[in-house]
Amino acid sequence: MLKMTQVIAAGTLMLSVSGLALAADVVKERQDGFKENVTHLKAIKAGEESGDHGAVEKAAEAVAAYAAKIPDLFPEGSGAGETRAKAEIWTDWKGFVAAAEANHQAALKLAAAAKTGVASDIAAAREDLGKSCGACHDKYRVPKT
Ligand code: HEC
Repeated sequence: MLKMTQVIAAGTLMLSVSGLALAADVVKERQDGFKENVTHLKAIKAGEESGDHGAVEKAAEAVAAYAAKIPDLFPEGSGAGETRAKAEIWTDWKGFVAAAEANHQAALKLAAAAKTGVASDIAAAREDLGKSCGACHDKYRVPKT
């Protein structure tokens, strides 16, 4: 017969294994999302160059929508394994959420500028958006080695 402690130990192990699998899923999901952000930034640049402000607006809106999801993609415990997420995300959670919100606002501002269609405003808003990505990376992403 299994002792109660063995049952509990087995249950705990199973829980932590499924917890790890979940963490790996969310890490992949957010990394894919960030890769898509790069695609969106390229579409923004291309739209600016060709004067396709509708394309700029659409891509900026996609970045904004993703930014709103960023905090949910960093659940506690998802900082281990194949990830460049820094521990500071969770020790300074408010700062991290604020960085995601700044990214969200910058993307919305770019979408609004694209709608208005003033090229210099679009360029300035695109630069600010890029800076808001970098600001979060500087604080919360482990640099590439
Ligand atoms: C609120 C913080 C934050 C914002 C804003 C943010 N990032 Fe990131 N980004 C991260 C973190 C943290 C990682 C590391 C994720 C991991 O490895 O689990 C990351 C990873 C990435 C990666 C690597 C993905 C991979 O394949 O591993 C790219 C590319 C990237 N970000 C681009 C962007 C772009 C472009 C923007 C802006 C449009 C942006 N990020 C905005 C925090 C942020």
